[in-house]
Amino acid sequence: MDLTPPPLIEFRRVTKVYGSGEAEVRALDGVDLAIARGAFVAIMGPSGSGKSTAMNIMGCLDVPSTGEYRFRGVPVSGLDRDGRTLLRRHMIGFVFQGFNLLARTTAVENVELPLVYRGMKDEERRRRALVALDQVGLADRANHTPAMMSGGQQQRVAIARAIVTDPAVLLADEPTGNLDTRISREIMAIVTRLNRERGLTVVMVTHEDDIAAYARRIIRFVDGRIESDREQEPSLVL
Ligand SMILES: Nc1ncnc2c1ncn2[C@@H]1O[C@H](COP(=O)(O)OP(=O)(O)O)[C@@H](O)[C@H]1O
Ligand SMILES: [Mg+2]
Repeated sequence: MDLTPPPLIEFRRVTKVYGSGEAEVRALDGVDLAIARGAFVAIMGPSGSGKSTAMNIMGCLDVPSTGEYRFRGVPVSGLDRDGRTLLRRHMIGFVFQGFNLLARTTAVENVELPLVYRGMKDEERRRRALVALDQVGLADRANHTPAMMSGGQQQRVAIARAIVTDPAVLLADEPTGNLDTRISREIMAIVTRLNRERGLTVVMVTHEDDIAAYARRIIRFVDGRIESDREQEPSLVL
């Protein structure tokens, strides 16, 4: 009997093809990949190499053309659209480069949003959102709107919103893309702490070596394939 738990995230010969005929683009070309619970992975590679496509499949925003995506050993292709939406809402937190916060809505209300779907009582929602804001060091900014905040603070709100549902994995596509070096380091310190202290699995796309340095594993994509996959000693930031 095999008692090894399945990987949190697993790609088996995953391809993703956009368009057809002359216009066909093979964004992913037979990718095999396993990411364990608790991992901290940086995905690197040139523009157009398939990084975002891979992240979208991991986050159940998109499905492979062929091959299989398994989440905790469960083939996601066996789920219908509603099943994938549920999986996404309960298991996955997203952070993008552009923050995607509601402009005229306070930080705490932005963070509460993913809980609205759950039929949770207002007070419980507020309590959890404040805990999440505290975890990114913004407890004292709960009633500020994004316009009153710096880019780094807005990205921290976006991280709080991503973790408020207590997801199994945080998917971050160029989370420091718009931020200067010092602020990027602060963001990475928060992400590292969530990984180490809460055991949150992190998969992050970046093109910056000094951001990838915080991860424990670096996977490099080229032309829709994995060119290299190596473990490393992460930067010490705590
Ligand atoms: N929705 C789409 N329709 C058509 N082509 C796409 C779509 N999304 C991505 N592609 C193409 O797939 C390839 C990989 O894109 P992407 O995964 O966004 O790369 P990366 O994130 O590494 O820059 C690129 O050639 C891109 O133009
Ligand atoms: Mg991309």
